[in-house]
Amino acid sequence: MPLTLGPLTVPVPVVLAPMAGITNAAYRRLCAEQGAGLYVCEMITSRGLVERDSTTLKMLVFDDLETTRSVQLYGTDPSYVGKATEILCGEYGVHHVDLNFGCPVPKVTRKGGGGALPWKRGLLGEILSSAVAAAAPYGVPVTMKTRKGLDEDHLTYLDAGRIAQESGIVAVALHGRTVAQSYSGQADWEAIARLVAHVDIPVLGNGDIWEASDALRMVEQTGAAGVVVGRGCLGRPWLFRDLAAAFGGEKVRTLPTLGEVRSMMRRHAELLSRHMGEERGCKEFRKHVSWYLKGFRAGGRLRHSLALVDSLAALDVLFDDLDPDEPFPVTELGAPRGRQGSPRERVVLPEGWLEDTDGTSLRLTEDADETTGG
Ligand SMILES: Cc1cc2nc3c(=O)[nH]c(=O)nc-3n(C[C@H](O)[C@H](O)[C@H](O)COP(=O)(O)O)c2cc1C
Repeated sequence: MPLTLGPLTVPVPVVLAPMAGITNAAYRRLCAEQGAGLYVCEMITSRGLVERDSTTLKMLVFDDLETTRSVQLYGTDPSYVGKATEILCGEYGVHHVDLNFGCPVPKVTRKGGGGALPWKRGLLGEILSSAVAAAAPYGVPVTMKTRKGLDEDHLTYLDAGRIAQESGIVAVALHGRTVAQSYSGQADWEAIARLVAHVDIPVLGNGDIWEASDALRMVEQTGAAGVVVGRGCLGRPWLFRDLAAAFGGEKVRTLPTLGEVRSMMRRHAELLSRHMGEERGCKEFRKHVSWYLKGFRAGGRLRHSLALVDSLAALDVLFDDLDPDEPFPVTELGAPRGRQGSPRERVVLPEGWLEDTDGTSLRLTEDADETTGG
């Protein structure tokens, strides 16, 4: 069951969720080496790209083997979003653009961005249409990623899905949580099913896929055209092998020994070093160590040293202390990983935000260097 996004066909209906600070070129390559799918770049800001902000441009890097260039844009201003889409398609040869309307971070929602924006239906339509118009001459499909709404009393996803469809968006990814929930609680897959019933364009289901079996179950329960996988692959890039196998009808589940996990860690650090230089690459790698070792016996001192590593040689020395034959900790299977946190009491919004649901022609200030994602 391939995934069709306008003119783009992905052989398996699996998308790596954009994750700020994680889904850089190295990580996308690492995951793509495991199995087919669509591997989306970490979020970049429209204004940052238009103004050629150096931090933004550093994130916009692709691996030599990356045949499908997919980028998520953040934006609140139709004109910046349109110009940024044009730059992505015209200068960076991007094949797919996704638009972020799900970020729950207060710094972002306070300005009306991310998950707050779909409340303004008119403005949402303007932003989506602007991106679609800019991408159209290049034949590049544009998708939208969003949440259920601000909170249970202020749901936006059904309207957002309809507006997306009317604006020429080719698919909508829905994270089955509200902004208020952030990453807490359980993703509401029934909302995904409701959106599937509500729109004619493909819906991609997102939230709480920890194993390949969860992905099959989500598609079966919701009718989604595919799945978007985020935290489940942190420290487990082989999940994409399992996902490709599962959608291909094979009953395979990867249970790597610690020796195999170590090889994957080494590959990850190596790819990061190749893309960023060894010192920065190894520093970037540090944040992944605890995810890779989750549930394994590796002692506190070793974990601590790994989290301070600054060269591949130092990494190799530390790796010698890991028992290659230690089996995969099966207690970790199906268990949540990555951020979870607690729900917010109230969503931080611009003053008077809820009073009007249109927002057509509203011009919100957009930061060039927003990097929180979410
Ligand atoms: C560290 C981290 C960074 C994230 N950054 C982004 C982002 O830049 N854009 C976005 O749309 N979602 C972002 N997300 C949300 C994920 O894409 C995804 O929607 C969410 O984690 C739910 O899926 P999951 O249960 O598979 O993790 C981020 C999530 C995490 C954990």
